[in-house]
Amino acid sequence: MNVLLLGSGGREHALAWKLAQSPRLGKLFAAPGNPGIAEHAEIVKLDAGDHRAVVDFCRRHAVDLVVIGPEGPLVDGLADNLRATGFAVFGPSRAAAQLEGSKGYTKDLCARYGIPTARYARASDRLAAEAALQEFGAPVVIKADGLAAGKGVVVAATDDEALAALDLMFDGGLGAGGAVVVEEFLEGEEASFFALADGETVVPFGTAQDHKRVGDGDTGPNTGGMGAYSPASIVTAAMSERVMSEIIEPTMRAMAERGAPFSGILYAGLMLTAEGPKLIEYNVRFGDPECQVLMMRLESDLLALMDAAAHGRLAEEEAPRFSRDAALTVVIAAKGYPGTPERGGAIRIGDVGEAKIFHAGTAIAGDGLVAVGGRVLGVTARGATVAEARAAAYAAVDSIDFPSGFSRRDIGWREMARGGWRGDGGAC
Ligand code: AMP
Ligand code: GLY
Repeated sequence: MNVLLLGSGGREHALAWKLAQSPRLGKLFAAPGNPGIAEHAEIVKLDAGDHRAVVDFCRRHAVDLVVIGPEGPLVDGLADNLRATGFAVFGPSRAAAQLEGSKGYTKDLCARYGIPTARYARASDRLAAEAALQEFGAPVVIKADGLAAGKGVVVAATDDEALAALDLMFDGGLGAGGAVVVEEFLEGEEASFFALADGETVVPFGTAQDHKRVGDGDTGPNTGGMGAYSPASIVTAAMSERVMSEIIEPTMRAMAERGAPFSGILYAGLMLTAEGPKLIEYNVRFGDPECQVLMMRLESDLLALMDAAAHGRLAEEEAPRFSRDAALTVVIAAKGYPGTPERGGAIRIGDVGEAKIFHAGTAIAGDGLVAVGGRVLGVTARGATVAEARAAAYAAVDSIDFPSGFSRRDIGWREMARGGWRGDGGAC
């Protein structure tokens, strides 16, 4: 099979690496790609925003499957245009991508179908938003309604902070058309839960925990993710069953009923509260860097699973298998991230042993590698426990010479505090 992979992050490098292991793979094309992806794919010039150009490329190169990595092209309807012209796609339609593209859409769906989530109010003007603040009281969470690249969420500890967030959303141009969702603050531990779907059948596809803040001890501003590990032992087998039956499966049924069946990867950001799992948000694609740890543990043929999902044949496939090993990724970012990252810093990767280095913001300059983005490398290792995976990942991090880079030193701290994960029981 010939495959076109769209995207340029560490997530897409991990997907390319895993797709390249499939005996079914013919030619792998990638756009815009990065130097890591180029080890497994032919990089082609293609703008995912130009749907006609993508369709033409697929025709000319006999592409059998298009894998769309990031949310932007999905929310923009690229999958619909490809399917309408006869191409198979891994990723949801524009209508189904609203699960990520509009927080209000997802909250309303949860309310309608009884899917557990924080209580909320949608407000399209400031007055309505202030009324909602009064109702919930601090601490409270305020979210811009639309894709906001991780910057659209404010967890306000006090009423003053909540009002300042409204200033930002309504006057600072952050809100998508000024619409916000005001939410009850949920207490508990967060976990990421992945499910693979073909519109009808849905199966669990691994768990992980992300580290969103830039600094050690979960301090500083939010980022796209500074590290992750899988599995998240807090998601036990029993918890996984609850998540599937209370959150994922009802969502799949609801989407089918609405004429927007979901296919691709559904990534549920969960809060595990005293009352049970509650949905914080959906993403309609793999997480980055969660994808890196999942691919490191996946034993099944990724291409076979993606092809089955794209063709509505998941029920005929063997369930996805993951190693009982743990995997952990440490992101190395360029100094300045998540603000303005330093560009052009030289990177020399030494002997990293069994670790896998997934590229994100890198480029080739002369005969060396330089940083050209915020998150630059995802150093990923496996081990029998999170503690072992973490030791191997940090040994590799320390062998990389990248003076203008930095990483958190405490990735996996939650699992370490629990004594490290032993691989006995738990969900995938
Ligand atoms: P989101 O973009 O919706 O995932 O929100 C970003 C982060 O804000 C989440 O990962 C949580 O840490 C936090 N958050 C969002 N909603 C809530 C909530 N209702 N209660 C507590 N924390 C939340
Ligand atoms: N790591 C969080 C995300 O991909 O959304």
